[in-house]
Amino acid sequence: MPEPSAVTGVEPTVVSRRSERIQAAAPFRAMFDFRMRSGYAQRRLDPGVLDFTFGDPHEVATTDYVEALRESAVPRDELWFAYKQSEPAAQDAAAASLERVVPLGWTGDDLRMTTGGFGAITVALKVLADPGDEVVYTLPPWFLYEPLILEAGLVPVKVAALEPSFDLDLDAIGSALTDRTRMVVVNSPNNPSGRIYPLELLRSLAALLDDASARSGRRIWIVSDEPYSRIVFSGNDFHSPAEVYPHTLVCYSYGKTLLAPGQRLGYLAVPPTLEDRADLLEAVDMMQIAAGWLFPNAVMQHAAPRLEELSLDLVGLEAKRDRLVGALREIGYEVGAPEGTFYLWPRSPVPDDEAFVADLSRHGVLVMPGTLFETPGWFRICLTATAESVEEAIPHFRAAFEAARQSHPS
Ligand SMILES: Cc1ncc(COP(=O)(O)O)c(C=O)c1O
Repeated sequence: MPEPSAVTGVEPTVVSRRSERIQAAAPFRAMFDFRMRSGYAQRRLDPGVLDFTFGDPHEVATTDYVEALRESAVPRDELWFAYKQSEPAAQDAAAASLERVVPLGWTGDDLRMTTGGFGAITVALKVLADPGDEVVYTLPPWFLYEPLILEAGLVPVKVAALEPSFDLDLDAIGSALTDRTRMVVVNSPNNPSGRIYPLELLRSLAALLDDASARSGRRIWIVSDEPYSRIVFSGNDFHSPAEVYPHTLVCYSYGKTLLAPGQRLGYLAVPPTLEDRADLLEAVDMMQIAAGWLFPNAVMQHAAPRLEELSLDLVGLEAKRDRLVGALREIGYEVGAPEGTFYLWPRSPVPDDEAFVADLSRHGVLVMPGTLFETPGWFRICLTATAESVEEAIPHFRAAFEAARQSHPS
C-alpha cells in the first residue's frame, strides 16, 4: 500500500483496489498495451502491413447494414429515442433466430437485450455470483473473461483445455470445482481454438455439474458464451449447453455475425426449460440498470429485426479458412481446421510464441501470441482480413517458418 504523502498526510493512490487487481491481470495488461500503447492503431493502417489480430472489419460495411441503421435512426413516434430497456420487437426477432439454432421453444420474454456479449456476460456474472465466488473457465480463453470476472468481485479459476484437440478437460474441471464455485464459462464455438464442443461432451459436463451442485448444496451454473454460434463451417453442428443443462445463461453478441463490434448489440437468454424463472428474469432486468444501463441504444434495438437477416460472408470466410489452413500445413505448420469462428490457432514453430510473433511482425504480418491467451507455444490468426491479405501473407508465413526452423532445428 502506498505511504501517505509527508506533506498532505493523504495516501496518493487514485484508483480502487479492485481497479488495481484488474490492471494487474497479466494477459489483459498485455492485450491493453498492445491495442492502446504499442502504435498498433497506426501500424495496422500502414501500407504493406497485413493485420490478422482483432476481429475487426477490413472492408466498408454493406449497404444492407447501413440502410438498416439509417432507417432505424428516423423516429416514428415521440418515444423512439426514449430510455430503452429490452424492446419487444428486438426480443422477438432474437428469440426466433435463437430458436433456429438452439430449438428449445424460446420466446421474446426469455431474452434481454444487452450491450453486446460484454454486457450479457457482465449481467450473468453479477446476477448469479457474490463477491468471492469462483468462476471456472478453460484456457486458452477469450482474454477479457478475467477482467470482467475481477470487476464483478469474483475469483477466476483457470483450467487448461486438452491439447491438441482443445476440448474441455472434464477431469480438470471436476477437480477445480469447490464449494465456492458458482459458474463455469463455456465458449463454443471457441475463440481462439475454433473448436465446437460435441453434444455428448456437454452432456457429460452437465452430469458433472449436477453432481457437484448436489454435493455442495448450491447450484453451479453455466454461462454459455456463444457469439460465434452462427459462424459454423460446413459439416459441423453447433450445440449449446442450454440443450442439456437448463441452469445455463446464454450470452450472445451480434458483433461477430455482422462484423460490426463497434455497434453494441447482444442478449442474455434464460432457457425456457428452466423452472421458476420469473425471479431470475426480474433480477436480470434490475441488474442491467444497476450495473450501468447495459441496454443497447435505441437505434440498435429498432434495427435488430432487420439486422437478424444479415450476416458476414460465410462462404468467403470458409474459403479463406481452407486456403490458409492448406497453405500453412503445406509450409509445415501444425494447425487444426477450425469448426467455427473466424480464427486459426496454429502451433508456433518455436516454443517462444512471442519471439515468433515479433518476427512475423517484422515481415509486416500482425498476429497474436498464445501467451496473450495464457497458452504459450501457439498463436492466433484472425480471418476477418481480406482474401487478398491472406494471399499476400502466405509467403511471409513461409519465410518466418523457415527462419524459425533454422534457428531451432528439430
Ligand atoms: C468469446 C467471446 N466472447 C465475447 C466477446 C464479446 O463480444 P462483443 O464485443 O461483441 O460484446 C468476444 C469478442 O471478441 C469473444 O470473442
